[in-house]
Amino acid sequence: MELDPEALELRERYAVMISLIVPRPIAWVSTISPDGVPNLAPFSFFTGITAKPMSVCFAPVNNRDGREKDSLVNARATGQFVVNLATEANAAAINQSSADYPYGVSEFEKVGLTPLPSVKVRPPRVKESPAQMECQLLRVVTIGEGPLAGNLVIGKVVHLSIADALWNGGQPRHQDLKAIGRMEGSWYARTGDAFELPRPSSVAKPPKS
Ligand SMILES: Cc1cc2nc3c(=O)[nH]c(=O)nc-3n(C[C@H](O)[C@H](O)[C@H](O)COP(=O)(O)O)c2cc1C
Repeated sequence: MELDPEALELRERYAVMISLIVPRPIAWVSTISPDGVPNLAPFSFFTGITAKPMSVCFAPVNNRDGREKDSLVNARATGQFVVNLATEANAAAINQSSADYPYGVSEFEKVGLTPLPSVKVRPPRVKESPAQMECQLLRVVTIGEGPLAGNLVIGKVVHLSIADALWNGGQPRHQDLKAIGRMEGSWYARTGDAFELPRPSSVAKPPKS
């Protein structure tokens, strides 16, 4: 099958993207409105960028009516957001926090999560999440315009919190983190079936079969 993305319906493009780009890590993003109402939502178009400075990005796509997602509105207005680690224990809450609550309604309250004051930024962290990255907004890059246009929200991590039990000398183990990923449709992935391959030190010959 050879496909020209422009020849596909928007719905089909989205379906094939979320089916092929898997598994995706999930940023469980908390923000705060300028008048102090916390907001929380998951974003799986999410990745780290570099350690120098430690930076991450996530992509809130505009709603079908062209409205920007609350997380973007708040991150832009306050210049801050927090990425909370998405884990198996929080899967149902993560999913529930993606409901389209009106602007100004706190998903912390709706889902029954505990807002924990952050160390360096105003948006609260999710107490139930075992690791959080507090971020200062670096920039928003907009791709396309209007309904379903993309926005890449790039932030510098200004503070990192990790549960002591996970720290493991600076190399948390995936077996302990139990992070979850997003797949196509309404599927999620566990990270309990990982395998290990050491990085090659030089150009290696493929193993003989
Ligand atoms: C696991 C998961 C991942 C999601 N990833 C994204 C994403 O990467 N980009 C996006 O725009 N919406 C994504 N959504 C949908 C948003 O979470 C949803 O639109 C939410 O209502 C946005 O909240 P906000 O308006 O409070 O920012 C995702 C939903 C789920 C359940």
